[in-house]
Amino acid sequence: MKIELAIIGGTGVYDSKMLTELEQLEVTTRYGTAHLTKGTYKDTNVVFLARHGAGHSVPPHKINYRANIAALVKLGVPRVIATAAVGTLNENMPPGSMVLLEQFLDFTKARQASFFDGGESGVIHTDFTYPYCRHLNKILSQAAAKAGLELLEGGVYVCTEGPRFETAAEISMYKQLGGDLVGMTNVPEVVLAREAGLCYSTVALATNYAAGIAKYELSHQEVLDVMASNVEKVRLLLMAAIELLAAERECNCKELGSTILL
Ligand code: HPA
Repeated sequence: MKIELAIIGGTGVYDSKMLTELEQLEVTTRYGTAHLTKGTYKDTNVVFLARHGAGHSVPPHKINYRANIAALVKLGVPRVIATAAVGTLNENMPPGSMVLLEQFLDFTKARQASFFDGGESGVIHTDFTYPYCRHLNKILSQAAAKAGLELLEGGVYVCTEGPRFETAAEISMYKQLGGDLVGMTNVPEVVLAREAGLCYSTVALATNYAAGIAKYELSHQEVLDVMASNVEKVRLLLMAAIELLAAERECNCKELGSTILL
């Protein structure tokens, strides 16, 4: 049976608690192997992928993003909803807020960020004017309204290389450039999803004020703690969104993408 959706769980979202009939999958592609859990939520087939691996063992710059997205393509999954823990630069999106991403600024440095590396994979320049699926974002907004959850919109995500947190000067620069939120994983994940023609949205959860805005040092433990106390609303949003998933994709994500080698 067709798998309708993939959930890529970021920091603090490690399990597929809401799914039943669980089955572990190992999908091997030319880029590497991805480990996923397949399950069902109210008759919809969903796969769950823990971005940082079992026990949060893979740091952001070492994640095999290409293997993960290629595995979803191999499984025939058309849509992806990702979660991301982020620092916030915007006082209108304070810690604890759920924010739908709309744009990104890419400050990563050393990642395999494309399926199109020349040679047999080809040279393809993909449109990224609107990197996140606007139809899937609309479904998530409707789901939030239906579930009575506050979901802020229009988040501009800054992706840094990590794994270190940022300096105060970097955050000040990102803020002047229009960034709202900062994290370490959405690029190249969103890029690869679009290149492969998948619909991709991200629900970001602000866990802390970013460096220099926060008046104290940042720690991964703080990110985990704030995520743990907010994870339930992320889960409720995902469940409501699955119920609203339309059969047809009312967007051009598929057409904007290209065929990738698997
Ligand atoms: N910076 C980068 N990544 C993050 C942060 C942050 O402040 N918080 C959670 N992920």
